[in-house]
Amino acid sequence: MEHNIGTYNDLDPDTEARVESLLAQMTLPEKIGQLVQIGPFAPFDFEDYQAKNMDELIRSGRVSSFLNITIPHLINHCQRIAVEESRLGIPIIVGSDVIHGYRTIFPIPLAEACTWNPALLERASRVAAEEASAVGVDWIFAPMVDVARDPRWGRIAEGAGEDPFLGMAMARARVRGFQAADLSSGRRIVACPKHYVGYGAAEGGRDYNTTDFSERTLRDVYLPPFKAAFDAGAGTVMSAFNEISGVPATANPLILTTILRDEWDWPGVVLSDYESVRHLIPHGMAANLKEAARLSILAGLDMEMVSSAYPDHLAELVAAGDVPLAAVDEATRRVLRLKFRLGLFENPYTDESLADALILRPDFRALALEVAQESMVLLKNEGNILPLSPQTRLAVIGPLADNRLDMFGCWSLQTHPEDVETVLEGLAAYLPADAWTHVPGCPIRDTAPTDIAAAVAAAEEADVVLLVVGESADMSGEAHSRTHLGLPGRQQELADALAATGKPIVCVIMSGRPLVIPRLAGQAQALLAAWHAGIRAGRAVADILFGAANPSGKLTASWPRAEGQIPVYYAHKNTGQPAADADMKAFAAVFKSVYLDEPNSPLFPFGFGLSYTQFDYADLRIAQPTLKLGDTLVVSATVTNSGDRAGAEIVQLYVRDRVGSVTRPVKELKGFQKIHLQPGEQRIVRFEVRVADLGFTGRDMRYTVEPGDFHVWVGPDSTRGLAGAFSVS
Ligand code: NOJ
Repeated sequence: MEHNIGTYNDLDPDTEARVESLLAQMTLPEKIGQLVQIGPFAPFDFEDYQAKNMDELIRSGRVSSFLNITIPHLINHCQRIAVEESRLGIPIIVGSDVIHGYRTIFPIPLAEACTWNPALLERASRVAAEEASAVGVDWIFAPMVDVARDPRWGRIAEGAGEDPFLGMAMARARVRGFQAADLSSGRRIVACPKHYVGYGAAEGGRDYNTTDFSERTLRDVYLPPFKAAFDAGAGTVMSAFNEISGVPATANPLILTTILRDEWDWPGVVLSDYESVRHLIPHGMAANLKEAARLSILAGLDMEMVSSAYPDHLAELVAAGDVPLAAVDEATRRVLRLKFRLGLFENPYTDESLADALILRPDFRALALEVAQESMVLLKNEGNILPLSPQTRLAVIGPLADNRLDMFGCWSLQTHPEDVETVLEGLAAYLPADAWTHVPGCPIRDTAPTDIAAAVAAAEEADVVLLVVGESADMSGEAHSRTHLGLPGRQQELADALAATGKPIVCVIMSGRPLVIPRLAGQAQALLAAWHAGIRAGRAVADILFGAANPSGKLTASWPRAEGQIPVYYAHKNTGQPAADADMKAFAAVFKSVYLDEPNSPLFPFGFGLSYTQFDYADLRIAQPTLKLGDTLVVSATVTNSGDRAGAEIVQLYVRDRVGSVTRPVKELKGFQKIHLQPGEQRIVRFEVRVADLGFTGRDMRYTVEPGDFHVWVGPDSTRGLAGAFSVS
């Protein structure tokens, strides 16, 4: 039978009957066993597995799931014991972190979001699912849908950036891709949006730190991408490490029960994050592991990842009447339902020969290149120095020009250096080997002696300096937050020395986050944000530098001018004393919400990115300037490619609700379209926005759309565009 995971939220009576009949046969320890996820096994092999006596645990029904095992024969081994040797034959489910690809590594998710191309990301996610399912993974711990407005936070790399609306679009696309119902393996994958919820609000951008935001911000900013993921059919969710209003997410009844179950009626599985049940002790919420188990199950947490509060204590808690059996039953029911819906009872084993045919297929590598090209954002191109002519003599400088491992970004389990194309290898597709010299100049982040002098000498001999700098992959991601967001190590010193030569600098900047680089941005004639772009990084960079690909990416998180501005994001509030304009600073204006020493505006705003061609906007039309609640706002503008190359433009629609019963952001993204135009081609881009989607969480904590006046903009980024107005009556 086909299990369409895409309809996860509709319970089907057959499955429910199977769940109930199985549940009725289970002992309490077997039920608790279904709530246990174990792993990973260092070094992911049989020896560690055997040392932990896993066979016996599986046989006795004490394990439901494994984390990050990706060896097909080990997975099949576990499955065989579960299915053939345990009393009830309940299959195990294998979960894994497949964040931006399994073996075909795509750009980091923050970069992928800069494509503004959900259909493309759906295909990329599907590739990840194809490969992961080929090795026996059933459950992908992605998409990471945390809205992140603080680039100090290393995990900004893993999500779609600062905006909930864009985050919703990306969440839907990824869930659809992961949960595609017709994977080549004939198996199913279930997605796990994470980290539920508000993890991106870590104070000071320090990972795992406390968060504190209003319930309105929770509902309007942090929850929407999760809701979108569930509406797209996501069958599980991972609870976050952080607290929400003083209550850690893993034991938080408001988010796990009131919102998830009562308001949204969502029947999926809630998995904790890694030991986040045990973390209730250092959080200061539980005195011991037993208390942690009780608080978590009562709050609505179904499965525990890695720590052992549930297996060690749930049985005694039920026996003592401190946890109702019904709570354990309900959690077990959800896990069983998932396993039935995945088809694991019918199809528990992995075909161990699949991986060879499915991993790193040429079409997967081709897609990785496409995504990498579309994810790169051209931030500056003074005097149209780019694209380069193949006759240019280049000095290729910088520690990331000949680098493989950092292209994998912060979250790749499979890092095979031979999969990667470096920038140097990419250049070789366009230039003869004697047309350029290469000098690293300095390491990425340590301050060891450098060969800056050699880099300068090479620059003197060249027409153009191609400077490839940035962060190493391990400078972003989990537990890798930074306070200084400039170029690490001695790279700025290198840039300074190169700038002093007077040679034009084309800078490719690779990073896991928005960086703070005003000095470098001033020194370079061209600046391309290439991120950590995966296995095709080098080729994608070269394609863009030589114009074979026209850059089309746009930022999904603002690049600050200074760390002191953080958080800096476009959808901020106006305040009672707003700056006259985004470039204002004091002392020019007293009693304004500004800084003395920097404007409020970021260096590069949300939505911003250049192309090798030029797009002009004209003729904003609002079909109906006065609308009612059930209506749809229809706005259009004419976009013309007035340059001399074909290119793609990401046309963005923003609104502002001018007066509300609670204050509203100065702009909110409500639509975007990526269009491709030939030189001279013109298109009327038409947006439809339901008035019902123009609301927010009102004073009573309910979603509301209030009558009143709105501004609307259609433009190329969050700071520019044609402006109009409409009202809702
Ligand atoms: C902790 C991370 O927060 C989460 O994103 C990941 O899925 C788990 N570890 C499992 O590796």
